[in-house]
Amino acid sequence: MTEDHPPALLPQNSRSDCDSDAMSDGIEIQQHGPVPASDPVEKGGEHHDFIALRAGGAFVALDVSKGMRPIILYAGIDMPGVSPHELAVLATRQHAPGSASVPLRGSLLNEIGTGISGASGLIAHRSGEDWAIDLRIADVDQPTAHEVVIRCEDRNTGIGSEHSLYLDPKTGMLVCNTTICNHAENELEVDWCAALSLPFDARMTRFLSFTGKWSGEFAVEEVPDFQGSIVRENKSGRTSHNVFPGGILAAPGTTELQGPASGFHLAWSGNHRLRVDRHSDGHCVVQLGEMTFPGEIRLAKGESYSTPELLACWSDRGLNGVSQQFHNYLTECVSDNRAFNKPRPVHYNTWEAVYFNHNEAALMELAALAADVGAERFVLDDGWFGSRRHDGAGLGDWWVSEEIYPQGLHPLASKVRELGMEFGLWVEPEMVNPDSDLYRAHPDWVLAAQGVEAVPFRGQLTLDLTKPEVFDYLFERITDLVGTYGIGYLKWDMNRDTNHPASSGRGAMHRQTKAVYRLFEKLRSVHPALEIESCSSGGARADFGIMTHADRIWTSDNNDARQRHHIMRGASHFFPMRVLGNHVGPRTCHITGRKFSMPFRVASAFFGHMGMELDLRSENASDLETLKRGIALHKQHRELIHSGDFWRLPSASNTNLVGCVAKDRDEALFGYAKLESELETLPAKVCFGGLDPARKYRVKMIWPLFNPSVSTPSIVDAASLGGEGTVFSGAALMQHGMQPPLTYPDTCIIYHLKACE
Ligand code: GLA
Repeated sequence: MTEDHPPALLPQNSRSDCDSDAMSDGIEIQQHGPVPASDPVEKGGEHHDFIALRAGGAFVALDVSKGMRPIILYAGIDMPGVSPHELAVLATRQHAPGSASVPLRGSLLNEIGTGISGASGLIAHRSGEDWAIDLRIADVDQPTAHEVVIRCEDRNTGIGSEHSLYLDPKTGMLVCNTTICNHAENELEVDWCAALSLPFDARMTRFLSFTGKWSGEFAVEEVPDFQGSIVRENKSGRTSHNVFPGGILAAPGTTELQGPASGFHLAWSGNHRLRVDRHSDGHCVVQLGEMTFPGEIRLAKGESYSTPELLACWSDRGLNGVSQQFHNYLTECVSDNRAFNKPRPVHYNTWEAVYFNHNEAALMELAALAADVGAERFVLDDGWFGSRRHDGAGLGDWWVSEEIYPQGLHPLASKVRELGMEFGLWVEPEMVNPDSDLYRAHPDWVLAAQGVEAVPFRGQLTLDLTKPEVFDYLFERITDLVGTYGIGYLKWDMNRDTNHPASSGRGAMHRQTKAVYRLFEKLRSVHPALEIESCSSGGARADFGIMTHADRIWTSDNNDARQRHHIMRGASHFFPMRVLGNHVGPRTCHITGRKFSMPFRVASAFFGHMGMELDLRSENASDLETLKRGIALHKQHRELIHSGDFWRLPSASNTNLVGCVAKDRDEALFGYAKLESELETLPAKVCFGGLDPARKYRVKMIWPLFNPSVSTPSIVDAASLGGEGTVFSGAALMQHGMQPPLTYPDTCIIYHLKACE
C-alpha cells in the first residue's frame, strides 16, 4: 500500500517522499534553506548535530546526529537564546543502578531495537521477523526555519522512516507525522505506528482526558498524577463519543487562566490509540496514532504508510492558552474560508419538529415561522428520501421520496429561498439500511468481515467506500442533489460504529477513512460554495481531520439548555465557537424531559454557531417574540462571537462563565449561567477575563430582556446594567470581579463590554 492521499495539515514540502531509493543514498546530513540545518558540537567525544525549530512562541530542539537515533531534547514554550546543545548537556542521562550499563538513547518512536522498555511507537515485522527495529538518521532536511524532515533507516531490517515536524509560525502549533517505508523484498506488516513519541514536561502531572457518550459529549475527566500508562483506544470506526483523540497535560496549580499546560490531538476520524506513559526515570511521553486491525497495513517493497498528523501546543497561560492555540490553528490553517467569509447563518433544523413525519405543507409553515424569527438557513433533516419513513429503511436510496414530495424538493426549496433562507439537506452517505433498494441490488457493497455477523446498530450497515463503484455512486447521487436543488449546505451524518470493517478480506478502516475524506473533498471541489457539517449521532466525528473538509460540527443531539453548557464548555477545549453548532431546543427537552424558559434556551445557544431545532408551531407568541429578539441580538454580536478569543473562566460548580473577547480587546461578551441553586447565601463574584486591565469598559446586561434578580437591591439597578450600564476598569472587572444578581437556576445573563476612550 502506498498513500494515495497524503496527510493534509503539514506543508507540502514536509510531506513524505519516501521511496525505495532513500536507503541507498547512505547517511548524509543535508543543509538546506535559509538557516543552517544543524548546529554541530562535540559532546563527550562524540560529534553531534542539533536543530532548533522556533516559531509562534514554541521551541523544539532535536539531536539529529547522523547514524544515531533522532531525539527530541525539548518541545515546549520558547526559551529565547537557549541552544539545543546546552539542553543536551542539561538533560544528560546518568547510569542508574540496576539498569542497563549505558544510558539508553530513545528515538522519535522508541522502537523495540532501542532497548527502551517503555511503550514502543512502532510495532512492525515480517511474519514474526525483523521486529527489533532500530532507526538511525540517514539524512535531515530543513526547508525553512520552522520545519524539519528527518529520514532514518534500519539497514538490518530494511525499514525506513521519515518524520516531519512543522511548527506553525502563526500559532506555535507543532504538526508532525511519520511515514514508514519498506525497502526489503518481503512484505512488512505494520501493527502500530504512532505519529511520534512526544516527550512532555513531567511536571505536568494532571491529565485532562475527554470522554462522553451520545448526548453527553466532551466530558472532561481529570486523571491525577500517576505512574505507568494510561491507554485510551477507540475502534468504533469514527472519532467516537467516548474517546476523543486528544488531551491536555497541566501542572498541579494550573487554572483556566494561568500556569503551564500543553495539549495534543490526532487529526483523524477513524480508529485511534492514545497513550500517556510516565516512566520511572521521570520521563513523560505521549503517543497518538491510528489503531489498525491485524494485517490491515502491509507494505510490499517500496510501499509506505503515513500516520495521521499529531498536533501539539504549549502554553503558560493556563488551559485557555492551549485552547486558544487550537482555535487559532483551526481557523488559520485547517478550515478553508468558504464558510467564514460570510457571517455564520442562523439555522433552522427540522429534526425535532417533525422527525420522520415529513409533510410538505407543514414544512412550508415551519419555514415561514423560521424565517420570521430570523433563520437564514433551513436544513431539511432525515426522512426526505426513498422509503425513509422510520430509521429502519431507505438509507442508501438518495432519491427524493415521490410519495412525500411529488414534485421533488423544488417547491420546498423555492419557498425556503423566497423566504430569504439558504436550503440545506441532511445526508448519511456512508450508510445503508438492508431494507433499501441499494442494498437489495448490491448486498456486497458493505464493509464486512467474512463469517462475522454485523453488530446490529440503528438498523444500518457501513458501505465500503474503498470500492470505486460505491464511491462513484455516492458522489453521483450527492452531486446531483446539490446541483438540482441548489443546496448550499449538507448536514453529513454517520450514525453507527463500524466494528469490524473488512474489504476483500482485509481490515479497511484506514482506507475507508481516507475514502470518506476524498468524497468530501471531491464534492467540495465541484461545489465551491457548498458548506458541510460533520455530524455523527451528535458529536462523534469532531476532530481536526474531518475539519479539513467540513465547516461545522453538530456538537450534540442534546439540546437540554442546562446540559448544553457543559457540552459546549468541554468542546471549547479544542474547537472554536464558530464551528460548534448550538441550537435552541423545544420547551420540554426531548432527551431529558426537562422544561426550560425561552430566555434561558436562547442564552444557552447564543455562544456557538446558533440555530433552532424545535416545532415553532407549538411555541406561544410571547416565546416566539423572545426567540426573535434573541436571534437578532446574536446576529448583532456574532462577528465577535465567531472571531474573538474564547475564554472559559473559573466558575463555581453551579455556574458556567464564558466569554468572547475581541482580538484587540475593544469589546467583549460574557455569558454567566446559573445552572443549579446557590451554594452559598449569595452567588460568588464573577471575574471576567481576557480584558485589557488598563482600559475602561462600559458594562451592560444585554440578556435577558428583563431584570432577572430575585432580590432587591441588586447590582442590576446599582450599575444600571439593563440601561446605560456603568464604566469599570478592566483590572477591577478581572481581579475584583462583579457581584452577579441573585437569580433562579436556569438563568443566563449575557454581559456586553465596550472599551471607552
Ligand atoms: C442523528 C443526528 C440527529 C438527526 C438524526 C436523524 O442522530 O445526530 O441530529 O439528524 O440522526 O436520523
